[in-house]
This record gives sequence, structure tokens and C-alpha cells, in this order.
Amino acid sequence: MDFNIVRNDFPTMRKGNGVYLDSACQSLRPDSVIRAITEYYEDYPSCGGRSVHSMATQVSMGIDESREKLASFFGTKNPDCYIFTKNCTEGINTVARGFGLKKDDVVVTSDTEHNSNHVPWLFLANKVGIKRRYSRSDANGEFDIESFKSCMSKDVKLVSIQHTGNVTGCVTPVKDITEIAHEYDARVMIDGSQAAPHFEVDLKDLDVDFYSMSIHKMCGPSGMGVLYGKEECLKDLEPLIVGGGTVGLATYDHVDLAPAPEKFEAGLQNYSGILGTKAALEYLEKVGLDNISAHDKELMRYIFDGIQDVKGIKVIGPSDPSKRSGVFSFNINGLGSHDVAMMLDNIDNIMVRSGMHCTHPFYVSRKIEGSVRASAYLYNNEEDITRFTTALKKVAETFGDH
Ligand code: ALA
Repeated sequence: MDFNIVRNDFPTMRKGNGVYLDSACQSLRPDSVIRAITEYYEDYPSCGGRSVHSMATQVSMGIDESREKLASFFGTKNPDCYIFTKNCTEGINTVARGFGLKKDDVVVTSDTEHNSNHVPWLFLANKVGIKRRYSRSDANGEFDIESFKSCMSKDVKLVSIQHTGNVTGCVTPVKDITEIAHEYDARVMIDGSQAAPHFEVDLKDLDVDFYSMSIHKMCGPSGMGVLYGKEECLKDLEPLIVGGGTVGLATYDHVDLAPAPEKFEAGLQNYSGILGTKAALEYLEKVGLDNISAHDKELMRYIFDGIQDVKGIKVIGPSDPSKRSGVFSFNINGLGSHDVAMMLDNIDNIMVRSGMHCTHPFYVSRKIEGSVRASAYLYNNEEDITRFTTALKKVAETFGDH
């Protein structure tokens, strides 16, 4: 795969709008996705699943095709197992609120989850009285399967773990986790927001019960997510929001909910986003998830080579670049993360994220105020990384403590 051609598919790259290293937050979009969004607004800006006129029918067919694409992309058969959401957070909240957890039911997460996979459970602990157990990560912030095993018992009803950490970029052994959880009859929910953009995720093989992701991290439209659930799990799950589109028939005093996915998609939807989702998945397929994953690792290697002589740098997570899925977090001695981020932008228009990356407990428990995070994706190249590490050297030498 020629990644120079890939880079050229992104208008932001063609325009030379700086070095974008914030893809773990939101990715850039290629022409084909922008075209799918624009076509909807220009050619058939109508609603789906309701009216039967020709424009609306085109939207309804587009929604079906997008769901079919999701099913084939993630290696499963039934398109109705995919629910369109706003983002990964909404998917996790749908499971947290709809699963029917009761007082003293145990939910296991890890100690490195981002807020989307922490706060919904914390909320239930405070409101309903569920119990939490945290699988502790090792000194590098990597998942520790032994710690996870020690959290498991018969009162665990749900395990909810990230597939890839958004601070370290380390990948979690989801298949092993799922096998262990199922031995205890617990269901498994995976936060796939940092994983699904970067490598092939085969949901049938992983055998997880729920999987939530953000399409805007996968070259797709803003404000789009998807929640996958096994058929039997979605049947038992209560919807987060109800209203138009979620029902079979409603009378003044009775309502029959529609089956999944409709019962979860209340009101008019983000149709351009749904159509753009299909275009994004087609694009990622065209480039190839294996190629993307190899490219990510190459970029991480360039970063680790380039930071060898950056003074006073403290890397968060493992120093083996092959363990990182496009994410590199660090601090510079004597400097706050926001200061470093602003300096990188001022020196050479390098865009990184700074702060706690929605992973507050990770930083608070380790008494770190935050970090700088450079996250790369398929449109980045070696030159981007050289510009980043060169500017970083300048910042560290000029302003850091060493
Ligand atoms: N959770 C997203 C991030 O890591 C927003 O940047």
C-alpha cells in the first residue's frame, strides 16, 4: 500500500494544514466520506424509516446498506445487531442503563479506562448500589490478566474493558478476557473506540456481547458511533431513549417496543452520518486494516527513534513501539502538558492533545497532572514525525528542566 496516495485522499493533508497528531481524539476524513455526507444534503436530504416517497426510500436503503457494511466489516452476520449512536460514550451508557443492573451486582473495569467507561458505572454505583472492581494494570499501564482473574466471581454480571488504552495505546487481550468472563456467566462489553480504527476487529471471533465505538475516530463523520450487541443481548437490553421510531404500536396506555435496532434509535437520526459511516468503512477496507496497523507501528518506531536525544522526556507506557496502536504519551520535565502542546503548535503547527485525555483516574491515581499525547493515523508520514520530534527537541532544550 502506498501511503503517499492515502495521504492525498485527505483534503486537510493536500492543503498542508499542519501536522495533525490528534487522531485518537478525532480523525481526519477522506474525500469519499465528505462526498457521501455532501451528497445526502444536496441530493436526498430526507428522513429514513418513515416516509415512503423516493427521497426517503433512498435514505432508508442507505441506512440498511450502512448496517450491512458494519456486519461484514466486523465479521458478523446480522446487520440488526448494529445500533447507530452519537459516539462510543452513548453506546456504553445504553448498556450501563439498559442492562438491568441491581444493588450488589458487580461490574469489573480496569484502572485505565477513560471517563466514558468509568463514569456510567460510577453513576450506577452511587444511584443503584452496584459494586465496582478494577483490574489493576502493571507498572507500564498494560493490562494484567492475573489481576483481572482475581476480580472475577459469580456475582460479576458485567465486564467492561477498553480494547486499546487511550493514554498508552496498548491493546488488551479481549478474547482471553471474554473467555474468562463467560466462565463466570458474566457478559462482556468492550470499549473499542481506540481499537476499531487501527486493526481488524472480528467480533464473532472475539465473542464479546457488546462492543461500542466512535466512527469519528475511523475517518467517519463527527458525532457518529455504533453499538454492537449479540442478538440475545439486545433483546434483553432496555433502550436509553424512547419515542418515535422505537415502537411497534403505541396506544394511550400501552406501547410495544420495536425489535433491535429500531428500539434503540429514537427520533430522526443523523442520516448523513450514517451514510458517511458506510463510506468510512469502505475506505478503511480499501486501505486494509493490516496495512494501517503496520503503518501505525512504523510511525511509532519513527517517534521512538526521534525522541532518543530529547532532553527530560518521560514516556508514559511501554517503550516498545510495537505495543502501541498509534498513541504516544509523554511529559517534558519542568513543563505543563498544555504549555508543550501550545509551543509545538506555535513552533511548527504540530497539533497534539494535552491534559488528562478523558482518563482522569489514571492520572490522579499516579499523581500526574496530565500528559501530551501525539496520536498518529494512516495519513501521517515520516516527515510529520520528524517535524514533531524536531520541534519537541527545541521545546525541551529551550524551556524544559534538564
Ligand atoms: N476520548 C477521546 C480522546 O482520547 C476524546 O481524546
